Amino acid sequence: MTEHIAKPAIEDLLYAINSKSAAKLDWERVKSKSLAISEVGNLQMLRGTRGQPERVAVSESLRDHGKSLFEVAESRDVAVAKSRLEAISENCTNCHRAYR
Ligand code: HEC
Repeated sequence: MTEHIAKPAIEDLLYAINSKSAAKLDWERVKSKSLAISEVGNLQMLRGTRGQPERVAVSESLRDHGKSLFEVAESRDVAVAKSRLEAISENCTNCHRAYR
């Protein structure tokens, strides 16, 4: 179920951050999508609590990276935004590798 939030959100972030020049970057979009990603972290955390501490940890990390990307969007730092987006993608991959 959360994939219907996570997938469009990360696709929008990849497009907004990687395919636009810094001057044209839609930071408001980055803000709203990064919060959606952060909430996916919260929702995933609820699902992984039974005997799966790594799943909880990666969910927390996703929540924190989403929040951090929101803050980066407020300061409009493209380089840091790219690195946060990479960290988010790694969170998705890490959990899927183990639990999907
Ligand atoms: C903490 C674990 C966890 C994290 C983090 C996570 N997912 Fe998932 N995801 C799952 C699991 C488990 C499934 C299998 C279906 C289900 O249980 O909902 C899944 C399924 C999906 C699907 C459905 C299609 C498929 O191939 O099964 C998509 C799309 C998806 N995730 C996208 C994402 C994206 C994008 C992110 C990162 C922003 C993400 N997920 C982060 C655990 C996670």
